[in-house]
Amino acid sequence: MSAPAAAPALELRGIAKTYMLREGGTLRRRHRPLQAVRPTDLVLERNGILGLVGESGSGKTTTGMMALRLVNPSGGRILLEGDDITDLGVTALKPYRRRMQVVFQDSYSALDPMFTLQQIVAEPLVIHGIGDARSRAARALEWLERVGLHRSYGSRYPHELSGGQRQRVAIARALILEPAVLVADEPTSALDVSVKAQIINLLQDLQADMDLSILFISHDLSVVRSLCDRVAVMFNGRIVEEAEAETIFTGARHPYTRALLDAIPVLDPRRRRTRIFRDRDAIEAEGLTLAAGALSEPAEPSDEPALVAVAPRHRVEAVVTP
Ligand SMILES: Nc1ncnc2c1ncn2[C@@H]1O[C@H](COP(=O)(O)OP(=O)(O)OP(=O)(O)O)[C@@H](O)[C@H]1O
Ligand SMILES: [Mg+2]
Repeated sequence: MSAPAAAPALELRGIAKTYMLREGGTLRRRHRPLQAVRPTDLVLERNGILGLVGESGSGKTTTGMMALRLVNPSGGRILLEGDDITDLGVTALKPYRRRMQVVFQDSYSALDPMFTLQQIVAEPLVIHGIGDARSRAARALEWLERVGLHRSYGSRYPHELSGGQRQRVAIARALILEPAVLVADEPTSALDVSVKAQIINLLQDLQADMDLSILFISHDLSVVRSLCDRVAVMFNGRIVEEAEAETIFTGARHPYTRALLDAIPVLDPRRRRTRIFRDRDAIEAEGLTLAAGALSEPAEPSDEPALVAVAPRHRVEAVVTP
């Protein structure tokens, strides 16, 4: 894992995913391709927190899962700290698995109900054969404290915890191996506002302490604004705009990004979704046109609209404005 010092924590080059959907009954079964992620470039800088936003179904989770090699891409390359891990098999991948971890929205299903919290947090050490039983137990307790839970929680079970406490345990378990990259997929979406803020603060502190880079997937734009230093906006399987967080929130150039930002006060995801679609019509009514391929169904990779740099470190899908 000797990467050049300048290599980003994570780099996705032309990453793409097409799912084959089975349709019809047993007799007339057909397969329809669904382009969940179209060829996409994405860079997570070292010690950076990159927000990945976009409406439901835009391909955020698929992108995150491909970065972690939990979903195999249909095309493109994945580089972890400069090393190409795209084609590595289970054995070759194992040392890299230590370097990338994930926290999901619903950590309850990821926490084995039969295990104590100490066992749950120590498990990655067991899987990777690190330390002995005693040192693992000690480290697990340290990590419980580090995420804000008293050591006495070590002998408790997941069902005894609140949602916020469970996310703390999930974070401890993800970080005990001291990974380079954390993919956090909607980690605060199921939490109350005050608890959400605590978890965000915790992630912020740990990121600064640990040389950690975070890919933060979220619907929650206010959280993204407070946490992330860069933001990529995903729409229909593509990244349509990417820039520093403040640039996205104050100087967005892509009509879809603006539509998404307009939807900030709408809390119900279903309503938010309708709102975005309505705004998209509004965009067109204003005479703005989304780039070719952004709205239409599967384009060939070669037809993909290019991202153009409109300012340093600010890329936008080519948009035609009459
Ligand atoms: N295993 C799968 N098989 C088939 N289609 C899938 C699979 N996983 C995701 N999809 C489809 O791929 C598209 C992108 O899904 P994905 O879960 O990546 O979106 P998302 O942006 O994370 O959405 P959300 O905000 O709802 O979590 C969707 O159309 C989804 O239905
Ligand atoms: Mg998702």
